[in-house]
Amino acid sequence: MHREADYLRIMSNFATKIVKWYTQHKRVLPWRFQETEGVNLYKTWLSEIMLQQTTVPTVINYYQAFLVKWPTVHHLATATEEEVLTAWQGLGYYSRARNLLKCARMVVAEFNGRFPTTEAQLLKLPGIGPYTAAAILAIGNNTKATAVDGNVERIMARVHAINDPIQTAKKRLKELAKSHVPHHHVSEYTQGLMDLGTMVCTPQNPKCDVCPVVAHCQAQKEGIENQLPIRLTKAALPEKFTISYLSLQDDHILVRRRTEGNLLKNMIELPSVPWGTDPVAYNVSHTFSHFHIRIQCEQTATIPAEAINGEEFWHPLDKLHELPLPTMTKKVLKFGKIHL
Ligand code: ADE
Repeated sequence: MHREADYLRIMSNFATKIVKWYTQHKRVLPWRFQETEGVNLYKTWLSEIMLQQTTVPTVINYYQAFLVKWPTVHHLATATEEEVLTAWQGLGYYSRARNLLKCARMVVAEFNGRFPTTEAQLLKLPGIGPYTAAAILAIGNNTKATAVDGNVERIMARVHAINDPIQTAKKRLKELAKSHVPHHHVSEYTQGLMDLGTMVCTPQNPKCDVCPVVAHCQAQKEGIENQLPIRLTKAALPEKFTISYLSLQDDHILVRRRTEGNLLKNMIELPSVPWGTDPVAYNVSHTFSHFHIRIQCEQTATIPAEAINGEEFWHPLDKLHELPLPTMTKKVLKFGKIHL
């Protein structure tokens, strides 16, 4: 039986320093319960899905609200998609919410409510990709797995002075990341890299003077830490245009459900002309991952036929908050001085 000090000694220097630094400097976050509560892969999974495309400060409130509403995967599996989408509103990337529910139902139906503990099994579940599968196991179960996100890629690119653009060096960066993962304290190590990437090895002006692994960093030795990682500049996002109609009658508003396509599926929007490339004089703008939507808002009782698709219904204004409203729609409502 190894004692704690022995565990740390047999780990690589790099990992030991990360774990020690993490112990002293970690951020206090609600999904960091493992030390006091032990393994709860439901909670780890929930936090990792929310954190996929969303920042830590935004996720905190949603994470806690979800656990109050659905304390276990069994509770979540009984929710309706409408309930989950409504609780998710504002977090964006709503396919995550639909997959969350599908995944919860599969874990209950196929695994008796226990999340599987291999990457291969996790990867078969909706919404779980290579990063998330590894993160759930490494962080939540202390399993030796390599979770590579943007933070880890940046740290590896600097430590090993990788000059290739990050988009082409992904495989190499993952191998390097894998080579550093220790056999013990995997959870603290994995979260330590995330905190290091957020607080010390930041994209701009990394704080090398307080970095616990500066002695391992080739980029810092060469004085090129600020130039790495190399990123090919992204093409500007395309624009799409639409006209949305705010139509009010007897304290009701005309809205409709999005039933087509995957983007914002089953969320609620205002009657709008089909999104196209003809510019409009817009007053509201929203950015999705792959394009901007520019919206001209019109307040009118008469809506042109091309803005109606048959999914419309009248909804009481004072109950708008009960609907799953994407941020895009909330912006238009706000522009029209309609308060939720
Ligand atoms: N980003 C992704 N997963 C995270 C985690 N568990 N803690 C902090 N930031 C994260």
